[in-house]
Amino acid sequence: MQQRLQQLADLLERTQPLWEPRPFRQRPASWEATLPEVALWLRDRRPAEIDALEQDPFALSDMPGAYAALAMETTALTKIAQWPRQNRPPGKPMRGVKGRKQRQIEAFQLAVSAPITQAQPQRLIDWCGGKGHLSRLLATQCSCPVCVIDLSEAFVTASEQLGAAVGVDVTGIAGDVTTLTPPPQMDSAAGLVALHACGMLTDAALHWATQREVPWLALVPCCHHKAPEAGWRPRSKLLMGQDFRLPATALRMAISDEGPASPGARQRRRREMCWRIAVDLLLADRGETPLGSVGRTDYNRPFGEFCQWAMARRGLDLPTTFDADRHHRRAAEATRHVRGLSLLRGLFRRPVELLCVLDRAQSLADVGYQTQVATFCERAISPRNLLIVASRSSAI
Ligand SMILES: C[S@@+](CC[C@H](N)C(=O)[O-])C[C@H]1O[C@@H](n2cnc3c(N)ncnc32)[C@H](O)[C@@H]1O
Repeated sequence: MQQRLQQLADLLERTQPLWEPRPFRQRPASWEATLPEVALWLRDRRPAEIDALEQDPFALSDMPGAYAALAMETTALTKIAQWPRQNRPPGKPMRGVKGRKQRQIEAFQLAVSAPITQAQPQRLIDWCGGKGHLSRLLATQCSCPVCVIDLSEAFVTASEQLGAAVGVDVTGIAGDVTTLTPPPQMDSAAGLVALHACGMLTDAALHWATQREVPWLALVPCCHHKAPEAGWRPRSKLLMGQDFRLPATALRMAISDEGPASPGARQRRRREMCWRIAVDLLLADRGETPLGSVGRTDYNRPFGEFCQWAMARRGLDLPTTFDADRHHRRAAEATRHVRGLSLLRGLFRRPVELLCVLDRAQSLADVGYQTQVATFCERAISPRNLLIVASRSSAI
């Protein structure tokens, strides 16, 4: 694990000029001058080709050598084991749980049930457990009492009620995990699961569990950018020793994949991107900076009115020669280029994410845990699918 972590850190340091600029914001991207052949090829791609390359970096065979080399390197470095027993058909519908969420918690349960059954913790803690859907499944399948901790009192109450309804031992504690003084039922002999506890909430779990030498942990981190500090501050001794840093933009990039978004949601994103670019082009023509964020409902106007409204936000009128259809065609072309150029940046998304996860896993290894990282479900079920399982050697 240390070797892979080091390789990822080296890759990201070396390639920072390629992934840091956002083609949406910086046009042309600064790396276009150093990799002109790659830039030309990416700018030239048709929307359907971009869609295909977003799914699979090797979808086209005629890519320039420099791009192919980066695609191969990032793919090789992010190859990771799968927990066995994925892709089972879904179980019977769980109350209050949507289809994909159910697939996710079932996959998590399948991945961890063997170690839980082996470790026999007196009680499991479901850290930031929401309404306790995972708790309920673990309590049912592993015959283990589970204690849900969540900030929301309503969620905690729901988790107890839903657990009681199926006759399993799920109790709840409402509180902020970053400041919580743990009650006795959370102490010692417990295992801890944290599925999608955002950013620093996973770090709070790591801190809490290592302080108490909790024997067994299973964590699926998400929202790596959610932390009090901007950017990545290393957790492992390895990266701390090198004073390794990633900027906040890298962490947002890591989770910006469209993942399992519906075709409708994808289409809406493309349209919004095109309209934002349309206004940015008008602003750039007047020497102005880009528009900045726009509320979803602001897009409810027809295109021409949207441009007029956005310019008015800056106290500007549309040019007298403005022709909505012609300008839309110009923006659509610019959007195609932005999407094409963004493919290069996209190659580094998973390396950043894996580094954030391996760094956390390595920090557990640093204090004596045996640690494994593997995917627990397909990315179509959840793009944040990297599971850390850690046990003190005496636990399993
Ligand atoms: C993304 S949800 C994950 C819920 C659940 N683990 C799951 O996978 O369905 C994150 C949960 O963290 C809870 N949360 C947010 N901040 C918290 C905090 N400071 N302390 C405890 N829970 C918190 C939220 O209420 C929410 O239920």
